[in-house]
Amino acid sequence: MDPLPKTMKAWVSDRLGTPRTCLTLHTDHPLPSPLPPTSTNLLIRISYAALNPADVALLSIFPPGLLPFRRTPIPGLDFSGTVVAAGPDATFSLGTKVCGTLSVRLVATGHGSLAEYVLVPEGLVAKVPEGLGMREAAGLGVVGQTATVAMKATDGGLSTEKGRRKVLVNGASGGLGSMFVQLAKAEGVRVVGVCSERNAELVKGLGADETIDYQKHAPLPAYLAQTHGEEQFDFIFDCVGDFELYRDSPAYLKPNGKFICLSLGSSNGVVPLLKSFLPTFLGGTPRKFTTLNLSPSGDLMREVVRSYEEGKIKSIPIDSEYSMEDVLDAYDRVISKRSRGKVIIRIGE
Ligand SMILES: NC(=O)c1ccc[n+]([C@@H]2O[C@H](COP(=O)([O-])OP(=O)(O)OC[C@H]3O[C@@H](n4cnc5c(N)ncnc54)[C@H](OP(=O)(O)O)[C@@H]3O)[C@@H](O)[C@H]2O)c1
Repeated sequence: MDPLPKTMKAWVSDRLGTPRTCLTLHTDHPLPSPLPPTSTNLLIRISYAALNPADVALLSIFPPGLLPFRRTPIPGLDFSGTVVAAGPDATFSLGTKVCGTLSVRLVATGHGSLAEYVLVPEGLVAKVPEGLGMREAAGLGVVGQTATVAMKATDGGLSTEKGRRKVLVNGASGGLGSMFVQLAKAEGVRVVGVCSERNAELVKGLGADETIDYQKHAPLPAYLAQTHGEEQFDFIFDCVGDFELYRDSPAYLKPNGKFICLSLGSSNGVVPLLKSFLPTFLGGTPRKFTTLNLSPSGDLMREVVRSYEEGKIKSIPIDSEYSMEDVLDAYDRVISKRSRGKVIIRIGE
C-alpha cells in the first residue's frame, strides 16, 4: 500500500442551500480521523461515488457549523472503494474492494462520500461481488437498499403462488425504478414500467413486459383505468410522487393491492396517507398506502449484493460519469430528473 497523504480532495458545504450555492471543492481537506483506524473501522480510498436526489435534500436540511463536528461537512451517500487501513478488530484485509451507503449518523456528522477517503465501521459495507464493476457497485447503494426494503412491504414478496401477477413501476427509468423493474421481474410477475418513449428500450431491457409512455398517455390514471381496469395491479411502486396516481388507483389497483410510495411529493405524503384512512364518502381512497424512508445499513447492502449474485439484479444502468471537479454539473443532472439510471462521480483508482 502507498503511504497515506496528509490531505485529500473533498466537496464541502459551508451553508444550507443547493449544490451550486453551498458546495466548494477543497484540495487540502484533512483525512478522516482517528488514523490509524480503531476497533472495526476501515479507511476506504474511494473509487466512485454515486449521487442521489436525497443528497440534494440533505444539503438543505443539516446546517454546517451547527455542531462542533459538523464545521466542514462533506455530502454524498454512496461509494465504492478499496480498504487501505483497518482497525485491530476488522476482519477485511487491506486491498479488499467494498461498496456501501453511509449511515444517517455519518452523514449528519459530516462524513460524506464526495471525498478521496472515508472512515466507516466494517459492518456498513459489503465486498464488491465478482463480475461487478466498481462504477456499478457505487451505484447500487441507496437505490438497491431502498428497493430491497420496499419489496419487503409487499407482505412476503410478489410470489405468484399467492396469486400476485402484476406490478406497476412509475418512474421505471430512474435509479430506483430500474431496481424495482428487475427485482419484481425476478419474482416472475408481469411488470409494467411507466417511462418516456426515449427510455422504453432501456426499461424493456431491464425486464419490463410492457412500457407506458407517460407523456403520450397523459393523464396516466385515466389511461391505466382504460387499459388495466380489468386485470388490475397487485402493487404500484411510485418513484415519481404522483398523488393522482394514488387518488384514482381503485380503477386499476386490486382492492387488496398496495400503493408503495417512494417519493413523497409536495404534501410529504400526508395527503395520500390521510385519504387512505378516510371512508370513501368523505373523499378517501380505499386502497392501502405505504411510504418508506431508507435507513441505510450494511445488512441491507449485503442483501443487495446477494440479489446481484443471484441474478435478480442484472444491470445497474449508468446515466453519466463526471470527474471530481465536475460534481456541480453532475448535481445539475440529478436535479433535472432526466437521468436514466445513476449519475456517477469518478474519484480515484
Ligand atoms: N424513500 C426513500 O427512502 C427513497 C430512496 C431513494 C429514492 N427516493 C426518491 O425516489 C425518487 C426517484 O429516485 P431516483 O433515484 O430513481 O431518481 P432519478 O434517477 O433522478 O429519476 C429520474 C428518472 O425519472 C423519470 N421521470 C421523471 N418524471 C417522470 C414522470 N412524471 N413519470 C415517469 N418517469 C419520470 C425520468 O425519465 P424521463 O426523463 O423519461 O422523464 C428519469 O429517468 C426521488 O424522488 C427520490 O428522492 C426515495
